[in-house]
Amino acid sequence: MAAAEVEHSGSSLPKKLATFALCAIFTLSLIYFSPPLIISSTTNLLSQFQTRARARTTDLSTHLPGVAVWKQCDYSDGKWVWDGDHGGAAGGGGSRYDSENCDMKMTYKCVINGKPDGGYLHWRWQPASCNLPALDPAAFLRLLRGKRLAFVGDSTARNQAEALVCHLATAARPVTVRRDEERLGRKFWRWAFPSPHDVNVSTYWSPFLVRSEGHSEDYGMAHEVVVLDALTEPWASDLAAMDVMVISAGHWFPHSAVYYDDGEIVGVHGRPDMNRTEMSAPSVYRKVLRRTLEHVINATMADKLELVVVETIAPAHFDGRYSWNHRDACSRQRPYDGDVDGEAKVGDTEAELRKAVLEEVAAAATAARRRRPGLRFEVLDVTRLAAMRPDAHPGVYIYKNAYGGGPVPETAANDCLHWCAPGPVDTFNDILMQMIAGG
Ligand SMILES: *[C@@H]1O[C@H](CO)[C@@H](O)[C@H](O)[C@H]1NC(C)=O
Ligand SMILES: *[C@@H]1O[C@H](CO)[C@@H](O)[C@H](O)[C@H]1NC(C)=O
Ligand SMILES: *[C@@H]1O[C@H](CO)[C@@H](O)[C@H](O)[C@H]1NC(C)=O
Repeated sequence: MAAAEVEHSGSSLPKKLATFALCAIFTLSLIYFSPPLIISSTTNLLSQFQTRARARTTDLSTHLPGVAVWKQCDYSDGKWVWDGDHGGAAGGGGSRYDSENCDMKMTYKCVINGKPDGGYLHWRWQPASCNLPALDPAAFLRLLRGKRLAFVGDSTARNQAEALVCHLATAARPVTVRRDEERLGRKFWRWAFPSPHDVNVSTYWSPFLVRSEGHSEDYGMAHEVVVLDALTEPWASDLAAMDVMVISAGHWFPHSAVYYDDGEIVGVHGRPDMNRTEMSAPSVYRKVLRRTLEHVINATMADKLELVVVETIAPAHFDGRYSWNHRDACSRQRPYDGDVDGEAKVGDTEAELRKAVLEEVAAAATAARRRRPGLRFEVLDVTRLAAMRPDAHPGVYIYKNAYGGGPVPETAANDCLHWCAPGPVDTFNDILMQMIAGG
């Protein structure tokens, strides 16, 4: 367990990788080392804001061709089709961008790291009732000129933001204007595409959306404490600067945790030692998401905000037949077929986490129509399409020239949660672009 306990900033790469891979394994967090944390005071940020509907002063009025058709389309229903000959612009992702010189976490750079099977680059998502155009970086920058796009959530939000910035970099050179690594790696990050684009993309580490103190902030701590009625800084105060906000979270909720609300413990997850009301991961995620979206609707300072996109969970694919650090825990080389009851079946917890997003976003959209006309809510539903892609995670190829093309030892750190970039994560961004354009 040593790797899971402490991560020093100077620790070796494999150790860091082992650390985050361990985090993906929820059962490990059921092992307890220390007494529960107590938070003495709770800042109730949510109550600081009043409701006030605001007229929109700006909107994303640039429409793309085909948007009207696209809006009728359920892009989450479809299949992955082999697109080997047209891996680039057609949408397979194969040659859209080269991650080598991108400001991107090394572990996602599967090509550079020597992932031997390149097939994962050449599958294109084909929705059942429409075509999904590949993101056009120049058009994307035009669409967001003078605006700020923020990704808020866990490392899957960062994974997607970094892939996007790398892709946009094929059209314009970004400047990294803010980085805050702290102990957990990339916490708050901002890239600027300077004039004439004037587009900023930021990421905010906020795996529970609300404040958490514990393992998610310091891997040396075994427990998670989640304060349900306190939003996390700095995203909540940066709301005023955001035009488009993308929320991608969910993976941390199945961790064992103690929940506080209004200064009191209101429940636990996976903490039988505490003899408190057990709360399921999806029920907590739903509660937190509801409050977050309500807060966004209520926050009068967020008067630039036009679009909030909430992403459904993209399932991890650790092969249950092996331990997480076995070389074959993540070695599939082909997508699953579309059989939703077969291999690509979404697990019960993930299905519930997804449902929470669909229902809470629908409720927020209804509330916003009344209280914040002009503020749009969308669900970026990637659960099904991601569930079919066990072949597109970094696997054991998480550092540069991993294994030098040679054999992989039987025990090796594995990432079967994040996505290679380029890879299917670019499809998430293709859909995001249509949502931004579709306002
Ligand atoms: C983007 O960031 C740069 C550098 O901090 C800043 O000068 C610019 O005003 C920002 N643009 C937007 C649209 O937020
Ligand atoms: C657990 O809590 C219940 C209700 O407060 C109490 O009756 C019971 O004795 C507690 N069990 C233990 C083992 O402390
Ligand atoms: C938002 O405003 C509504 C209506 O005033 C209020 O009932 C609700 O508690 C507020 N929620 C948050 C999270 O600020």
